[in-house]
Amino acid sequence: MENFQFFSRISDLNKKDQDLIYSAQKASESSYSPYSRYRVGAAVRLTDDQVIHGSNQENASYPAGLCAERVALFHIGSSYPNKKIESLATVAKRAGESDFKPVSPCGVCRQVMLEFELRQKTPIRVILQANDGRWVIAQNAQVMLPFSFGQDSL
Ligand code: THU
Repeated sequence: MENFQFFSRISDLNKKDQDLIYSAQKASESSYSPYSRYRVGAAVRLTDDQVIHGSNQENASYPAGLCAERVALFHIGSSYPNKKIESLATVAKRAGESDFKPVSPCGVCRQVMLEFELRQKTPIRVILQANDGRWVIAQNAQVMLPFSFGQDSL
């Protein structure tokens, strides 16, 4: 299997992945982003098919804010520490606009995804929309972060 699969339309993805994208869109509704006005939603499917949501949460002290992906992932780490993650989807839109824009998880969120993946010892699929509009499924978090830093480096 290639590291990345590409799809022209959402309807080309399997039903579970489509549903995860729609869950991420729904999650973006709780974004608290008065500073960037950039509303991000993340949805994470656990291997038991439970779906956990996250949205970006900002703060007047800008660096205190947290990305949608890490809100969802740390919630899982905290509330479901023994469950495994199957897939994560991220979407974003600008406040006041109706269309979602392509977005790719930031480097820090990729680092956190990698930690979860190494910890659970099974791949976490990452679903996102590329700048050219195609949907991308990365087969695991590691391929999203080449030459990564991990506990082996310590
Ligand atoms: N953001 C996310 O929530 N996820 C990403 O992958 C990229 C950026 C948020 C952080 C901040 O609230 C806003 O988007 C602008 O950077």
